[in-house]
Amino acid sequence: MSKYWSPIVHQLTPYVPGEQPKLTNLVKLNTNENPYGPSPKVIAALQAEAAETLRLYPDPNSDRLKTAIAEYHGLQNNQVFVGNGSDEVLAHAFHALFQHEQPLLFPDITYSFYPVYCGLYGIEYAPIALNERFEINIDDYLRPNGGIIFPNPNAPTGIPLALSEIERLLKANQHSVVLVDEAYVDFGTESAVQLIQQYPNLLVTHTLSKARSLAGLRVGYALGHPDLIEALIRVKDSFNSYPIDRFAEAGAVAAMQDHAYFNQACAQVVATRTHLIKELQALGFEVLPSGANFIFAQHPAHAGEALTAKLREQNIIVRHFKKPSRIAPYLRITIGTDAQSEYLVNALKSIV
Ligand SMILES: Cc1ncc(COP(=O)(O)O)c(C=O)c1O
Repeated sequence: MSKYWSPIVHQLTPYVPGEQPKLTNLVKLNTNENPYGPSPKVIAALQAEAAETLRLYPDPNSDRLKTAIAEYHGLQNNQVFVGNGSDEVLAHAFHALFQHEQPLLFPDITYSFYPVYCGLYGIEYAPIALNERFEINIDDYLRPNGGIIFPNPNAPTGIPLALSEIERLLKANQHSVVLVDEAYVDFGTESAVQLIQQYPNLLVTHTLSKARSLAGLRVGYALGHPDLIEALIRVKDSFNSYPIDRFAEAGAVAAMQDHAYFNQACAQVVATRTHLIKELQALGFEVLPSGANFIFAQHPAHAGEALTAKLREQNIIVRHFKKPSRIAPYLRITIGTDAQSEYLVNALKSIV
């Protein structure tokens, strides 16, 4: 606290990211990173970028990257916005599209950055309770609102929502922006990108942090109608003209273009997930259905916090959320390599 702070700073409750431990011998299953490195073509592109040209600013419009993203999704460049991680893209979307009189709606159990952005930008919001199976019920969102946002699949539950339900929402809610945060969509969830041409109020965000193994590079993007994209560009150009540096652009372009590597890495994560779920169920865990690179699981005989601590003693880090209490029994476990999964299962066998 300091008298020098702007008043709003006193009221902020910042987001707390999952731990990034300094120890290297841990089985790190706590922040939904990809267990496999990025495509070798990405590494080569980054190496080529380490050159004298670094003295120059990057392209403020990141045109090369927008083209690669637009080509991948079958869209035009003016339907693409890029930013420094999808967190930054989301922040700009909150600022540019959700500051209205009616409250923003999002699930009560969801990505915990959403209420943080609301605090930063003074946006009213109304949390909408997930049903008893932790699912999003679209009917609960059919009420006056200044915008709607949810991840698909949701986080930290991992539960996917059918595309038909998203379309039902878009049909019924045409007066405000519906933002579908598809950070984890590539691990087996249907994407709403195919609805963009039909619904000018749909914005979809993606990240290169998960399926493309580039959490360290910080690149995310939004796809939607050019009018929505223009709003984001206006905010970005009032904030930081160069969010994508030369390395990020070069690496991200290579990642968007290496389809074979991407498909193979996603398929491997999904295969490991299927196997891990079976193993955990055999140990008595209840595991929620997952369309993501993580699972949300609880054991009826063991509290979530205690299990997390016991795994840590065996050098395994998973994520535990104390609040809301409905999810306190659950652990969020990132899908690692097969070897990491086996290590986890053996540790859990000794605990439960
Ligand atoms: C639902 C969701 N959206 C967005 C993000 C942000 O990802 P990034 O800023 O790495 O692109 C995350 C990160 O964990 C997430 O879980």
